Amino acid sequence: MARITPATRAPQPEVHPTLAVCPVPVRVRRQVVDPEMEGRPQEEVPRAEARLAVARRRGSCRHAGRLPEVHPEFPGRVQLHQTLVSAIAERVDLRPYVVLPRQRQTGGRTAYRAKPVFTDVDSASFHLDVNSAERMITSRTRAIIPVHLYGRAMDLRQVTEFAVAYRLRIIEDAAQAHGSAYDDNKVGASGRLTCFSFYPGKNLGAYGDAGAVTTSDSSEAHKLRLLRDHGSPAKYRHSMIGTNARLDSIQAAILSIKLRHLDHWNQLRRRHAAQISSALADSPVTPPVVPAGGEHVFHLFVVRSPQRNELRNYLSANGIGTGIHYPVPLHLTEAYQQLGYPGKGALPTAELLAEEILSLPMYPELTDEHIEYTIDAVLNFAG
Ligand SMILES: Cc1ncc(COP(=O)(O)O)c(C=O)c1O
Repeated sequence: MARITPATRAPQPEVHPTLAVCPVPVRVRRQVVDPEMEGRPQEEVPRAEARLAVARRRGSCRHAGRLPEVHPEFPGRVQLHQTLVSAIAERVDLRPYVVLPRQRQTGGRTAYRAKPVFTDVDSASFHLDVNSAERMITSRTRAIIPVHLYGRAMDLRQVTEFAVAYRLRIIEDAAQAHGSAYDDNKVGASGRLTCFSFYPGKNLGAYGDAGAVTTSDSSEAHKLRLLRDHGSPAKYRHSMIGTNARLDSIQAAILSIKLRHLDHWNQLRRRHAAQISSALADSPVTPPVVPAGGEHVFHLFVVRSPQRNELRNYLSANGIGTGIHYPVPLHLTEAYQQLGYPGKGALPTAELLAEEILSLPMYPELTDEHIEYTIDAVLNFAG
């Protein structure tokens, strides 16, 4: 097997298409809240309308049977969940609980003004396990946050029934699932609060921190607009406690251009994933599952192996970089352990997955040569 050097492993276009076509000058404003620009067509307002296109990419909401009126917001930066849960906390009692699967950043209890309660996950889909969530519910639970993890759109039917039964709000975490869909319904077009991250490494990534929330609820949209800008409806007026979660215009400009390429990039990711999955089908390494009806945009291509660490070392020795998303379930992190969260054994599936998961290289620019090289290496290891 030829050794792949770092230089050949991750080919990059000489000039990123976004940079090449970024309109100049970009209108850089300190605030994203700009009445003059609201409601203008996408091409005229490169800063912000990417979010609308994300939300409306599919264009219809099957359940509602009509085009949802999506009110997108751009909290930007890292406070997506914080902003949202604060919005809920505002409406309900002092410290609502929210239930969310153990993956990924969630911030602390103080940051949220709500206590996150972690559920276990399903071992095949890696999505939130509703049975586990049911065991966590208390009279103070107000919301549930399903995560469309790794880019695989989650089937939300069960969660929806559950949320109705317990009168919970659903807040979707689509940070890794731009352009993904379930039963042809685009993630973000459900009308519910759905959070997107545009962190640079995402399928749709800015050149710095950025994010968006979509919703069809105009009062939620109004509240989010206030929250993202220090609770301020007008200069020097503050009608509620908010935060600085505004989006830089330059990021919005970049995003609105990259958005045009998203479907193509997702298509390439899917093609690469299909190629690797079919080659690994009979190996001891388990490729990700793509269910009927569910789309996967392969933000990450995560396989399972009981010999994960050995496999990772072997691939590394052969010049193949891998990742673990994520090595420590949130409840076991120092931050939550200090807060007295349950220790090892509390969420067994999440804990087992953390030992077995491995993210293989996945990005649109992967070449056949690189894909085959990775496949060969994994199969060689598996023997
Ligand atoms: C699943 C998931 N949720 C939430 C986040 C947080 O996104 P941000 O850092 O843009 O707020 C991320 C980002 O990595 C993520 O992958």
